[in-house]
Amino acid sequence: MRSITSRASFEGEFELPGDKSITHRAIMLNGGAQGEATITNALMGEDCLSTCRCMRSLGAKIDVDGTTLRVSGTPHFRRGRELNCGNSGTTIRLLTGFAAGKGIDATLYGDESLSARPMSRVAEPLALLGADIKTTEGHGPVYVSPRELCGARVELKIASAQVKSAVLLAGISASGETIVSEPVKSRDHTERMLAAMGADIQVSGNAVQVKRSALKAVDVCVPADISSAAYFMALGALKGKTLCKNVGINPTRTGILTAFDRLGVKYSLLNKRISGGEETADILVEKSHMQAITLTAEDVPAMIDELPLVALCCAFAEGESRITGARELRVKESDRIKTTAELIRNIGGDCEELPDGFVIRGKKKLVGGNVDSYLDHRIAMTAAVGLIATEKGGEIYRPECCAISFPDFFEKLGL
Ligand code: S3P
Repeated sequence: MRSITSRASFEGEFELPGDKSITHRAIMLNGGAQGEATITNALMGEDCLSTCRCMRSLGAKIDVDGTTLRVSGTPHFRRGRELNCGNSGTTIRLLTGFAAGKGIDATLYGDESLSARPMSRVAEPLALLGADIKTTEGHGPVYVSPRELCGARVELKIASAQVKSAVLLAGISASGETIVSEPVKSRDHTERMLAAMGADIQVSGNAVQVKRSALKAVDVCVPADISSAAYFMALGALKGKTLCKNVGINPTRTGILTAFDRLGVKYSLLNKRISGGEETADILVEKSHMQAITLTAEDVPAMIDELPLVALCCAFAEGESRITGARELRVKESDRIKTTAELIRNIGGDCEELPDGFVIRGKKKLVGGNVDSYLDHRIAMTAAVGLIATEKGGEIYRPECCAISFPDFFEKLGL
């Protein structure tokens, strides 16, 4: 349990941990490539450690020195391994595609929360390439058996970077060409990294085409994670002024800025540059009077992990906000529609659940209260931001889960 006291103002300059999505991919793709790569500013959160553990178990060599990793791929993957993916959806889904592509038989499993998350969404598209993947009634454990893969055209019904990436990782080892398309473009870190590693890959709108390719190791300098920076950006908007340094602003990830634009949050992107194939900037956010917003399905993929926080901002905004098209939140680390609505109500806000989103009626002041994280890192961190902005603060139960993506979150908050 952690007590969070409310604060009259919140100001500061912050260096945030490396991007989780990019770190997973840098470890996994280099672990299956020719040569050795150095990854700097890697996220050492529990999810990425799960990817390290699984790739080592398959035979990749990974040396860790602080947040610098040296990864050497192996041409001879170990077979028959049981791969513990912990709490990490990205690890289990990408690795299912990776193992299918490499023809490795493996069992992939995770903790209670991961075991409740849908896995048919990766097994079914991979089956179109000829992969033999069995789930446990649509969930983990997932069993991958070796098969020759043949490229296919895959149309995803939901926008999911994890599923798209699983198909691409299988597709680069399949004969022929694989084309994967999605209804709205999701984060494209896999596409960018594959291109940097020499893959035969082409992107056209929401479709990506790959052909069989041998990957060469590539060094990756990981920018700070906008999904982690978002908590400090929101604190700037609610309570003062914050500067988040060297944050990745890949356009498939900046939905939080779209939400800020509509909410009327004052922010600026300073010192824009390109680092490791990804655009970065320092993000300055200042205290702002926020007004209610509407978000729909098209807005969701670029802010999928920030939606609990965006909903929280709406609880402090003037008027009635409506977020729809976000049914995917129900199958995250917790049912984030339910847990976010409960969080907002527990700290004194007004939030109604919809099957695929929320209606939030903003209030000038929220009194505070106690919140359970439901062992979901994003709920724990959203609760901390919310409580700091309330009148009386409150307690967070089971806050340790923030180590999944942001191990020193509470220290950075000054707690
Ligand atoms: C991720 C994709 C998203 C996101 C997750 C990380 C990735 O999941 O929510 O935190 O790294 O590819 P979905 O693909 O399920 O939308």
